[in-house]
Amino acid sequence: MPRSAVAPVLTIDGPSGSGKGTISRRVADQLGWNLLDSGALYRAVGYAASMAGLDLSDAEAVTRCAESTRITFRPDAEGGETRVYVNGHDAGDELRTETCGAAASAIAAIPSVRKALVDKQLSFRKGKGLVADGRDMGTVIFPDAPHKVFLTASAAERAKRRYKQLKAKGLSVTLSSLLREIEARDARDASRSVAPLRPADDAVTIDTTGLDIDAVVAKVLALVGSP
Ligand code: DC
Repeated sequence: MPRSAVAPVLTIDGPSGSGKGTISRRVADQLGWNLLDSGALYRAVGYAASMAGLDLSDAEAVTRCAESTRITFRPDAEGGETRVYVNGHDAGDELRTETCGAAASAIAAIPSVRKALVDKQLSFRKGKGLVADGRDMGTVIFPDAPHKVFLTASAAERAKRRYKQLKAKGLSVTLSSLLREIEARDARDASRSVAPLRPADDAVTIDTTGLDIDAVVAKVLALVGSP
């Protein structure tokens, strides 16, 4: 396929709690583009590996798990939130927990695990366009994306947002432990040797601290040049 016929991609990278998930979904809806939640793939592998009782630092075993785990995204019965199925099992709510986030962050540091997930991520580039949400969308997976955004927010603000989200789901969490976990996860994601969390050289950085969702969505849509 000639390059001009390839669907355009908007990459939205950033640390956890920067608003990537919500912003990406809203922007994809408004543009009528596909959405890739790449974090959900790493969470699904972390979840499958934990369920199988694997040692998450056993690169070979976890890579085999990444290669064999079936991950599918389906809209829920009411047509609202997308549910993530891991080997046919609806793992949606478990995947959002910090335990699963930490498992995802650990297995995401293994180069062969990242490699095992590349084709799956590329396969989302079809139709009118793709909004790709993650850590390395603009740097590694879609380096030729015409639009790249890097979202940030202070760790305190990100912990507060995650606290509200998890509480709304009825999960029992404390703000201080979330802040500690978020800081530890940021440090691990930014310091790993493969695909560390960093803005692409050609990404536009938006600090979302103190901004509401509508304001960020408007900024991102303006970058894409949407009407
Ligand atoms: O975006 P998230 O919180 O759902 O991501 C969970 C973990 O997965 C995150 O801590 C690091 C990893 N991840 C990654 O390494 N690369 C991506 N493109 C997306 C997520």
